[in-house]
Amino acid sequence: MTPPTTSDLVVTGGTVVSHDGRRRQDIAIRDGRIVAVGDDLAAAGVPTVDATGLLVLPGLVDMHVHLREPGMTEKEDFASGTSAAAAGGVTTVVDMPNTKPPVATAERFRQKLDLVKNKAYVDFGLYGMLDHDNDHEIAAMAELGAMGFKLFMGQTTGDNRCPNDAAIFRGLEAAAAAGLVVGVHAENDHLLRMFGDRLQACGRRDPRAHLDGRPDFVEVEAVTRIITMATEAKTELHIHHLSSAAGLQRVMDLRARGHRVTVEALVSHLFLDEDAYDTYGNLIKLNPPIRPAADVEALWAGIGRGDVDIIATDHAPHTADEQKEDDVWKAYGGFIGVETMLPLLLTAAAQGKLTVEDIVRLCSYTPAQRWSMSTKGQISAGFDADFVLVDPTAEFVLDQTSLHSKHNVTPYNEWPLTGAVVATYLRGNLIFEKGEVIGAPAGRQVIPARTPLATH
Ligand code: DOR
Ligand code: ZN
Repeated sequence: MTPPTTSDLVVTGGTVVSHDGRRRQDIAIRDGRIVAVGDDLAAAGVPTVDATGLLVLPGLVDMHVHLREPGMTEKEDFASGTSAAAAGGVTTVVDMPNTKPPVATAERFRQKLDLVKNKAYVDFGLYGMLDHDNDHEIAAMAELGAMGFKLFMGQTTGDNRCPNDAAIFRGLEAAAAAGLVVGVHAENDHLLRMFGDRLQACGRRDPRAHLDGRPDFVEVEAVTRIITMATEAKTELHIHHLSSAAGLQRVMDLRARGHRVTVEALVSHLFLDEDAYDTYGNLIKLNPPIRPAADVEALWAGIGRGDVDIIATDHAPHTADEQKEDDVWKAYGGFIGVETMLPLLLTAAAQGKLTVEDIVRLCSYTPAQRWSMSTKGQISAGFDADFVLVDPTAEFVLDQTSLHSKHNVTPYNEWPLTGAVVATYLRGNLIFEKGEVIGAPAGRQVIPARTPLATH
């Protein structure tokens, strides 16, 4: 019998950072899994990766990407989007269902799996959609390994229709029965449309009209309503891209009354504020919007207190032409981000705004725990050997032409950053190094541990 510590790869000399500390340790890997973490694991005849002087982080788990398959591959596809992920140290992505058509039935879920399964350079989970009339499809999508279900309370890219409250409640009940998380885009659709109509009637076309049409109480109302309903339906609830100080305060108030919910902040909501409309125009149109500096500060304070549970990107590509649109009402919401998340957060760490341990907790450990990815998010024996080598002191100026998405337009172009991804490994295999994505696409579907599939 093979002794359990026999390995086929050892990472030596690096500082392994976890969600609660860091230590100089070696990592021994066998068949894509970590078999040991400890001192002096190098062995004769076993290849080594020399990580001296580098940090070794668990691969990031980005809970919020839009890779646009099927139906919008002119914007991005699984190959290009997961290449960008690999280059950004992200080894697991969870893809959103607001595609054309939306992934709202088991049949479409199966078709999407078929479509993307051989194209991904990193592992991926798929969300199903919770739409206006599909509660009867939820259990079957869970059987196929859905990570959870996305509920759009406010309209955004794609053909999705926002469900009414009765449909929402039925969907919440079905997701609770399946034991899966519902992730919500919490903005009140009726109010958004009304404010949008008013601003258009006044002749507003400028980028800032997007912010004026989405005041924070629109988020507060939707957060309150969905948390109230999810508690009643006993659903595991996650608020995607919570964007306002008032929205976060409402979540904290409701948590204090016993409601259970997790909260996500977006990189974009942490690094851009209202002034950015003057610089970047409609490129930074985002739903929910980039908000005043006080909201940005409140999100950072929430991270400091532990009230924000995860950070994600909302990687939401559009074509370069679409991103040039001058009329705010015709412009699309969202922009790329999966490749720039880690360098931006490392830059914030270099500035003392959070620690690298916080980055691991917010971007690897907690997303993996929350969505029951039992082999992801930690550098420990038994976990997948997904890790990223990081040079936290590397200073560089971001050049968007070096990015791997189909359309590389980002507001962070030419930003000076501190902290670079040196190499990324997926299940023990090198998938990114020195600016290049390496090897064939070998990403696999990730299934939450609690679904029937995973226990078979
Ligand atoms: O701005 C956004 N764009 N927000 C979303 O929630 C969706 C996304 C998209 O799919 O384009
Ligand atoms: Zn999104």
